[in-house]
Amino acid sequence: MNIIVTGGAGFLGSHICEKLLDRGHHVTVVDMADGSKIEHLLENPQFVFHQDSILNNDLWTRDINLENIDMIFHFAAIADPKRYVFDPLTTLEIDLQGSLNVFKAAARHKIKVTFASTSEIYGKNPNVPWKEDDDRLLGSTQINRWCYSTAKAAGEHYLQAYNQKEGVPFVIYRFFNVYGPRLDDLGSGRVIPIFLEQFLKGDPITIHGDGEQTRSYAYVDDVVDGVVECGLNPKAENQIFNIGNSRETSVKELAQLLKEAGGFDSEITFVPHKEVFGDKYEDIPRRVPDVSKIKQVVGWEDKTPLEEGLKKTIEYYQQRSLVKG
Ligand SMILES: NC(=O)c1ccc[n+]([C@@H]2O[C@H](COP(=O)([O-])OP(=O)(O)OC[C@H]3O[C@@H](n4cnc5c(N)ncnc54)[C@H](O)[C@@H]3O)[C@@H](O)[C@H]2O)c1
Repeated sequence: MNIIVTGGAGFLGSHICEKLLDRGHHVTVVDMADGSKIEHLLENPQFVFHQDSILNNDLWTRDINLENIDMIFHFAAIADPKRYVFDPLTTLEIDLQGSLNVFKAAARHKIKVTFASTSEIYGKNPNVPWKEDDDRLLGSTQINRWCYSTAKAAGEHYLQAYNQKEGVPFVIYRFFNVYGPRLDDLGSGRVIPIFLEQFLKGDPITIHGDGEQTRSYAYVDDVVDGVVECGLNPKAENQIFNIGNSRETSVKELAQLLKEAGGFDSEITFVPHKEVFGDKYEDIPRRVPDVSKIKQVVGWEDKTPLEEGLKKTIEYYQQRSLVKG
């Protein structure tokens, strides 16, 4: 098949491209990033990289020949919590307007779309574990963090509406804290690279809040198996799936597990959310997926224990910092 992966030069996207190429597909990536995470794929004759924005309309009407495309994996987005708190306008433009561009292009050519949505959809619904048809419980629109959840939810609505009106097939994934090699640069983005930079430098670990907030961490190889399986398996068509690990882990416990896995000795400290995100911020106290649907429909299960995945992730970042000196 000929497949477009938007955001294919990012963390999840780069792993998805590898898997699709391994299965013999032709892959075209659309991403604004510099391509450092897909350097190893650039020579592959079945791989094309368009370094461009999904907001560029010419891309969808002129630069890519959509007549030849069988599927789009839409993964491009602003997914970094600091960015969606401090730059909601860009987040909304890319995560909402950008997604709409992709969906419109897909609808014109009746191309199946898979969409990277998020556990943020459920907001602060206290009734964990969350099933796919559970309620969304969000805070005020004056709190920027909810713009990401809102943009992704609008994307989900659009896809279902295009399906209803024009028969465009879709699959929606709601990811729960995926981690592994090629996640964000050390010290930036999501929690694991931030903690790891502090551990590697021997600095104190700064947990936001009291560290009792829980998350569920899923290793990238497992998640990508689920993404590709649901994307290509007709049984999963026109459905929404949670993809994550059901082990509930507090952020404090995560810091401790990283410390043990890497043999680090940084002290663990706590910083009020207010100091990091300002007055207008709300955290999500618990986040746990119910993954029975994906197991039942396509037989997917998370395999990698957290301790093992963290070890592999630490090794990756340690090697990279050695190479960079
Ligand atoms: N990793 C997770 O835990 C997680 C959890 C929930 C949802 N998601 C979703 O999965 C997708 C991939 O996330 P990720 O963790 O790989 O993040 P990532 O930041 O590594 O990847 C996103 C990619 O999108 C690209 N991008 C951003 N704006 C763009 C634009 N205008 N045009 C083209 N490309 C653009 C970025 O350059 C980046 O390479 C995102 O849609 C994210 O919202 C991820």
